[in-house]
Amino acid sequence: MHLVVVGTPQGSIARMRTVVLRRVDIDTKKIYFHTDVRSAKTADIEKTGLLRWLAYDGLQRSQLFLCGKTVVHHTDALCRQHWSDTQHFSRRCYLLPEGPGRPLEDSDAYIDEALAGFQYSLEASEKGFEHFAVVETTADRMEWYYTFGRGNKRAEFHYEHGILQSACWLTP
Ligand SMILES: Cc1cc2nc3c(=O)[nH]c(=O)nc-3n(C[C@H](O)[C@H](O)[C@H](O)COP(=O)(O)O)c2cc1C
Repeated sequence: MHLVVVGTPQGSIARMRTVVLRRVDIDTKKIYFHTDVRSAKTADIEKTGLLRWLAYDGLQRSQLFLCGKTVVHHTDALCRQHWSDTQHFSRRCYLLPEGPGRPLEDSDAYIDEALAGFQYSLEASEKGFEHFAVVETTADRMEWYYTFGRGNKRAEFHYEHGILQSACWLTP
């Protein structure tokens, strides 16, 4: 479940996108991904303070929905800690002059040769920190769907402050 989908409301329709799951803290039920603070999703999350996550693992035949209160960390200590753990090459997108989703004349118009060839120093990559954000959801609800030969199974779990409050089976 390295790649997950996160969904936010945009008007009357859900907007989804794939992100890389960066960290899971089982005790506190906190999950994290990294993003560009200039992206549309950041504004969506700040508006509602909520996020819905969807993950699927074919080997485990399991789909998970998670949702809960969500904060965007930008330039704080947690953000700095995640930034310090990033690799030099993964900082490239944060060095671009514009955030994601802006109109372009053609697909190559935005390619900077130095960035394309990773020709920047670790020191120069520090500039990207101003655009780097960490999104943290504290899951208070999880839904598990398991595809099973004798009939699919579905269950729901509620948490408060990371502690399981209730769990029940649902019709699949
Ligand atoms: C395999 C893959 C991994 C991605 N990982 C991330 C990620 O970790 N964080 C992120 O913000 N966008 C990631 N993206 C890009 C997003 O799917 C999305 O296009 C981008 O963040 C802009 O979304 P928004 O305009 O809805 O904010 C990834 C895309 C793909 C295809």
